[in-house]
Amino acid sequence: MDALKAIFTRQSIGGVKPDPVPRELIEKLLSAAVQAPNHYKVHPWRFMVLTGAARERLGEILARSFAERFPGAPASALDKERAKPLRAPVIIAVGVDKPPEPKVLEIENICAAAAAAENLLLAAHALGLAAKWRTGEDARNPHVKEFLGFAPDQHLIALLYIGYPAADMEAGNRPGFEDRTVWIE
Ligand SMILES: Cc1cc2nc3c(=O)[nH]c(=O)nc-3n(C[C@H](O)[C@H](O)[C@H](O)COP(=O)(O)O)c2cc1C
Repeated sequence: MDALKAIFTRQSIGGVKPDPVPRELIEKLLSAAVQAPNHYKVHPWRFMVLTGAARERLGEILARSFAERFPGAPASALDKERAKPLRAPVIIAVGVDKPPEPKVLEIENICAAAAAAENLLLAAHALGLAAKWRTGEDARNPHVKEFLGFAPDQHLIALLYIGYPAADMEAGNRPGFEDRTVWIE
């Protein structure tokens, strides 16, 4: 699939099969991710790849955190949290390095990591995988960051849920660029 076709047909897909994704394919995604531009060549992205039982351990953390935030939450709500990481056979968490020196700006590191995440999504799509970029409360949860090996003040910008698509999806229509663009001559 060429680059433009991948860009124009990629979409978020949450419904994936439980089938495992071969490690070589996951490595291809990571390799695509690190082709992203980054200022000062600091390669500020960090990936944590969760498969198998690691997702269950993450689910336990989500359930415990939920119980902490909502004491008295019903068991069904905790079960829902626990099951969240099981929605896909692979989760790639994308964290961002803190700048190692003043000239490196945190915002630029975040931009570079986001570019890496998008590269990864496009590569997944081109390879016939489905993916969804998720964040929400989970990406800001200090217990989740600790489990993934990130510092509390480190940004966790994406939890990329990846697997084989459960169904064929038609690409949706996205708004055009026109009302977001001004031409200055
Ligand atoms: C930074 C970021 C965070 C996101 N977090 C979530 C999320 O927590 N839950 C979710 O369902 N989708 C999330 N998304 C996916 C968007 O909802 C999705 O990209 C958007 O609806 C456009 O759909 P598309 O990806 O199919 O073009 C996130 C996307 C980005 C870029």
